[in-house]
Amino acid sequence: TTSETAATEAYELVIVSNRLPVDRVVDESGQASWRPSPGGLVTALQPVMRAEDGVWVGWAGVADEEIEPFEADGINILPVALSEQELQEYYEGFSNDTLWPLYHDVIAQPSYHREWWESYVQVNRRFADAAAGAAAHGAVVWVHDYQLQLVPAMLREVRPDLVIGFFNHIPFPPYGIYSQLPWRRQIIDGLLGADVIGFQRVADAGNFSRAVRRLKGYETRGPIIEVPIDSDDPEAGSHRHVTTNRHGGLVRTVLARAFPISIDAEQYQSLARRPDIRARAAEIREELGNPETIMLGVDRLDYTKGIGHRLKAFGELLRDGRIDVEDVTLVQVASPSRERVETYRQLRDEIELTVGRINGDYATLGHTAVAYLHHGYPREEMVALYLAADVMLVTALRDGMNLVAKEYVATRVDEDGVLVLSEFAGASDELRQALLINPHDIEGLKDTILQAIAMPKRDRVRRMRALRKKVLTNDVARWSASFLDALTRSAHGDHPLQDP
Ligand code: G6P
Repeated sequence: TTSETAATEAYELVIVSNRLPVDRVVDESGQASWRPSPGGLVTALQPVMRAEDGVWVGWAGVADEEIEPFEADGINILPVALSEQELQEYYEGFSNDTLWPLYHDVIAQPSYHREWWESYVQVNRRFADAAAGAAAHGAVVWVHDYQLQLVPAMLREVRPDLVIGFFNHIPFPPYGIYSQLPWRRQIIDGLLGADVIGFQRVADAGNFSRAVRRLKGYETRGPIIEVPIDSDDPEAGSHRHVTTNRHGGLVRTVLARAFPISIDAEQYQSLARRPDIRARAAEIREELGNPETIMLGVDRLDYTKGIGHRLKAFGELLRDGRIDVEDVTLVQVASPSRERVETYRQLRDEIELTVGRINGDYATLGHTAVAYLHHGYPREEMVALYLAADVMLVTALRDGMNLVAKEYVATRVDEDGVLVLSEFAGASDELRQALLINPHDIEGLKDTILQAIAMPKRDRVRRMRALRKKVLTNDVARWSASFLDALTRSAHGDHPLQDP
C-alpha cells in the first residue's frame, strides 16, 4: 500500500541507504507499481522503520525518474534520483564492481576506474544533501552500507548539529586487501564523519581500526578512534565529545565496534505457525516426490554465496553413489541480482550450466536432483520452503552476516532441521551450534552434508534449540536499539564499549 503524501517535514530520525524497501517497476505498457526490494539490508531495516516515526532516504531502483516523497506500508519515503549514467558508474560500477568484490576478499577481481569514483563522490553528495534537508535540528541520521561511505563526513560538514551513525552491512576487508583501493584514504575520512561506526563482526571492526592507524596515523584505544581536530578551526567547539588526548592535542572520538545484525524473528515464527503455510510446506514435499531429505539453498545469485561450491559437493556425492537421487533433492532458490554487471552474468551462466549437467547426469523422470529457481519469492513461500527443508546449506565464501541462516532457524518452531553454515559468514560468530564448514574444502563439505542428512533427531533438536535461543533473543529490534542507544549516548559524550 503506497500513497502520495508529501514527506517534507523535519524528522528526528533519518535512515539513509542506497536501496529503498520498495522498488519501482514499470511494465511494458508503461504501468508503474512497487514491489519489495531484495537483500539483507532491507529485511533488517524495515521493521525498525515501521516502529519509529522517521524518514527513509534512498533510491527507487530505476534510472531517470524523479519521484515525489510518499508513504509505503507506514514508512515515509524520500526518493533520491539517479541518472542512467550514475546507475552505471556509481551503482553497477564503483559500488558493485569495485567495492563489493574488494570488500568480499577479492573473490572476483575489482575494477578501478576514476570516472566511477567521481560518480560515487557526486552521488554520495546528493544523498547527504537529501538527508540534511530532511533532518530536524539535532536529529539522528543513520547511514547504511558500502554504497554511501562518504555520506557521514559530507553530512557533518553541512550539519554539525546532527548525530551521525554508519552501519556497514558487508565485511570490512583486512588491510592487505583494503589497501589496493586507490581512494582508500578518502573512504576512511568519509566514514570517520560518523559518531558511531557499526560492523557485523568483531574482526571487521578490527580491520577498520587497523586501516585507520595505517593510513591516517590516528590513535585508537580499543573501539575508540581519536580523530585530531584543528584547534584553529572555528567549528572546533561545535564538535561533539571533543577531548584532549595524551599528547595534549584536541581530538573528536568515534566509536567503531561490532553490532551483529538480525531479523524480525517473531514474524518468522508466527508465519511458521500459520496453517496455510504449514500446508504449503507439506505440498512442496509432495511436489518434489516426497524425498527422504530435502536440502535447501537460498541466495541472491552472487559469487560471494558459494553456490558453485555447494553444487560441486552435491554433484560429487551423487556421482560417488554416497547419496541417491531417489532420496535426496536439493532446492536452490537463486534470486536475480545486479544482472547488468558482467561478473554476475558469467556467474549465472556457470551456475545454470552446472545445474543442467547435474540434472542431466543424475535426475530420473520421477526425481530431479536440483530444483533450481531463478526468482525472488514472497516471505510466506520462503517460510514454507524453510519448513520443508531438512537441511539448510549456507556455504558463502564471504558474507557480512547472512540473514537466511537466521531466517531458517527462526522458522523452525518444531525445533527440527539442520543448518550447515560457512565460517566465512558473519552469522557463524553467533550460530556456533550449526554444522560449521569451510566451503573451499569440498571433501569436508561433502562429509558434513552426509552428517547433516544422517543426524539423529535428538541431536537435531539439541542444536536447533540452542540456535533458536540465540536468534530469538538477539533479534533485529535489539540490534537497532543497541546501535541507536550507542548513538544517543555518544551524543551525550558517552561511548558504550559493549552491549549493556
Ligand atoms: C546486500 C547489501 C545491500 C543491498 C542488497 C541487495 O544485502 O548489503 O546493501 O541492497 O545486497 O543488492 P542490490 O544491489 O540489489 O541493492
